Amino acid sequence: MFATGVTIVTARSAQGELIGLTASSFNSVSLTPPLVLWSLARNAASLAVFSAGSHYAINVLGACQKPLAERFATRGIDRWTDVEHTAGVSGAPLLQGAIATFECFNRSRYEEGDHVIFVGEVERCTHNAGASPLLYHGGRFYTEHPL
Ligand SMILES: Cc1cc2nc3c(=O)[nH]c(=O)nc-3n(C[C@H](O)[C@H](O)[C@H](O)COP(=O)(O)O)c2cc1C
Repeated sequence: MFATGVTIVTARSAQGELIGLTASSFNSVSLTPPLVLWSLARNAASLAVFSAGSHYAINVLGACQKPLAERFATRGIDRWTDVEHTAGVSGAPLLQGAIATFECFNRSRYEEGDHVIFVGEVERCTHNAGASPLLYHGGRFYTEHPL
């Protein structure tokens, strides 16, 4: 029953491969220093790259990006075909059309149960004021409805 936003967490592996997966576990931790967290299943294919890499980017999705959220949660396809992106300062891909981006130093990791909690130190962030977010609740996608 807990509604969240939707992100795609991205990285570039040491071999130069683009990595990305849909994650709704993103949350804020601290303002000083600026820290955020997200959690990754221990059986995720991307675990080794995120564990070893020094940086990743968290792309907050807008209401128009539901197809991208579904694509980056699908296994056995090339997730990056025709996906427009630019390289962040650390090399992690920043997705065109994301309504906010957080470029993070891979500060610490905590193994808990079947997930690993990643705490990232935000080195750079951007946002698109006024853009409508993609939301996720009870297994379905939504966008905002002001009360
Ligand atoms: C809306 C949504 C939110 C998700 N959130 C997470 C998450 O926070 N952590 C996670 O490990 N998987 C999450 N998933 C599932 C992954 O996106 C999915 O298992 C993906 O295939 C993992 O990629 P990988 O195996 O290439 O690393 C989510 C999927 C959806 C559709």
